[in-house]
Amino acid sequence: MSSDAEDGFGEKWTLARSALDSSRRVSVFTGAGMSAESGIPTFRGEDGLWKGRRPEEWATPEAFLESPAVVREFYQWRRDLISGVNPHAGHLALGSWAKAGNRAIDVVTQNVDGFHQLSGCPSVLELHGSLWSQHCHVCQHSETDVHRVSCHCGGPLRPSVVWFGEVLPQDVWRQAEEVIRHSEAMLVIGTSAVVYPAASLVFAALERSVPVIEINPQPVLGDPAICISGTAAKVLPQLLKGL
Ligand code: OAD
Repeated sequence: MSSDAEDGFGEKWTLARSALDSSRRVSVFTGAGMSAESGIPTFRGEDGLWKGRRPEEWATPEAFLESPAVVREFYQWRRDLISGVNPHAGHLALGSWAKAGNRAIDVVTQNVDGFHQLSGCPSVLELHGSLWSQHCHVCQHSETDVHRVSCHCGGPLRPSVVWFGEVLPQDVWRQAEEVIRHSEAMLVIGTSAVVYPAASLVFAALERSVPVIEINPQPVLGDPAICISGTAAKVLPQLLKGL
């Protein structure tokens, strides 16, 4: 399958680069597709984590309280998988661009892998939490040792990821809304944009009529977004080159 990036520098490509180039604040909204080429499965793709798995058995507080060992094992499997792979060329291009300081770049991610931080992005808001920390189900105490199972209060420690039916961390959410409100362009990478409230940030940017550039082998946004069909690892290094 060809992609816009491989096809050359068409009109969408020029529009996307010029929108990014002329913006002083850019928000970057990412989903599981961002890390797919590192070898981390998405949720809804062919080999996605939710294919053949019922999320309510793995990613709800009820599932955790009923079978903590099973849920912990699922998250440890995901940590092990991520520990064995690396950020790809797209993560690194984004990290270098964000670090360069030519403009303010805030990443708002649904991903819990920590790869944006690892590749140098200075500002990352994790809407769905992180695989690399835990907190107590009872007293909310935060814990960086992901192997501990009990809090000092006796309560069970759980992964600090947002589960179905839970609210997003409110401080992070408020900061994300602020970022979107002030951004002059938005890059949307590797998300199906179906999980709310996270997806509403993308639609808020479209409503504000700021340029929204989507990178996805199967774009989901349509007009007026500038949709570049291609993968994160292939498109980002070229798209951001020299900006
Ligand atoms: P999805 O699995 O729903 O969507 C992944 C998107 O990435 C799809 O649109 C793919 O076409 C696209 N994609 C696949 N490979 C790609 C690549 N190499 N480069 C760019 N794009 C690619 O993942 P999310 O939208 O992140 O929530 O899912 C949102 C939330 O649903 C997750 O954060 C998770 C899940 O339930 C929680 O766990 C709370």
